[in-house]
Amino acid sequence: MPAPLRILSGLQPTGRLHIGNYFGMMKPALALQHEGEAFYFIADYHSMTAIFDPKERRDNVLNLAIDFLACGLDPEKAVFFRQSDVPEHTELSWILSCVCPIPMLENATSYKDKIARGLEANAGLFTYPVLMSADILIYDSDVVPVGKDQKQHLEMCRDLASKMNHLYGANLFKLPQPRIREETAVVPGLDGQKMSKSYGNIVGLFEDEKPLKKKIMGIPTDSTPVESPKPTEGSTILQFYKLFASPDDYAAMEADFRKGGIGYGDFKKRLLEKTWAYFAEAREKRAEIVVKKGYVEDVLQAGAAKARAVARKTMDRVREAVGL
Ligand code: ADP
Ligand code: TRP
Repeated sequence: MPAPLRILSGLQPTGRLHIGNYFGMMKPALALQHEGEAFYFIADYHSMTAIFDPKERRDNVLNLAIDFLACGLDPEKAVFFRQSDVPEHTELSWILSCVCPIPMLENATSYKDKIARGLEANAGLFTYPVLMSADILIYDSDVVPVGKDQKQHLEMCRDLASKMNHLYGANLFKLPQPRIREETAVVPGLDGQKMSKSYGNIVGLFEDEKPLKKKIMGIPTDSTPVESPKPTEGSTILQFYKLFASPDDYAAMEADFRKGGIGYGDFKKRLLEKTWAYFAEAREKRAEIVVKKGYVEDVLQAGAAKARAVARKTMDRVREAVGL
């Protein structure tokens, strides 16, 4: 029997989950948990490149863990853990950094973007793709579901794995494949740019009804009069609606755009209804998990024990191969 597909992904605990994270990474990752052995983790070591408040980090980790579970991560199916509970990631990261060419890191668009947005250019941020490569390679991952912006990091990971294989043995590391869903590769934000925490244009997954309403009703629109047909091309309302509505409902809204006679306010109301309904189940589940004291920590600890056993085995192999 062939070995089951090993699936791995991580999310940084840098703020509340938004619908870009959900459709770009979390939903595809959750769908994959039934297709093989999934390893999903909270990248708290990575968050150290940008967050310097211990309480904020701890709160973010807990909230993200609850969000993951509320959205359907099944801890019986997937190994779910906190990155820092498996310190072997940092050991492998060091080993990989010793074969990593500086120009490769200098070329990382994510690094350049973050610096341009005012993040401190610390060594951790610079070597972020090396730690990410270690996260992936240490579990012999086959498939890595991520958003489009992580594609270059996956290429770097494959380069580092190839380099290690060349230097230390052809079968040392598996070369992982990114899994990027093209149809939702980039979820737009409220302003039509890519949705991102750092652009202040996000719709959170678990927003209360009032702020959600305020955000959706505040989506900027053009000044087409109510009675005229509305442009469908590039419409943020339609792009969002597509994420939440059935194909039939989406087609109906698009037809109403073309027909004219309906104002943007009405379209936004329809969008609000669908958005609220879409996450209703996850909201209920979240409320249940929040009151189960100790449950989330227990899940993370059990996941860490399983993950660590795999990571240790890989490190035995790597240490042997590199002569440590
Ligand atoms: P942010 O840009 O808000 O800081 P992250 O960089 O923490 O988000 O992204 C976490 C995951 O969610 C990554 O896999 C990323 O590709 C995905 N992701 C983030 N924003 C979007 C978006 N607007 N559309 C699709 N996927 C996204
Ligand atoms: N860099 C990813 C992000 O910003 C998070 C991450 C860290 C990750 N390690 C990973 C994703 C390993 C996939 C695999 O979203």
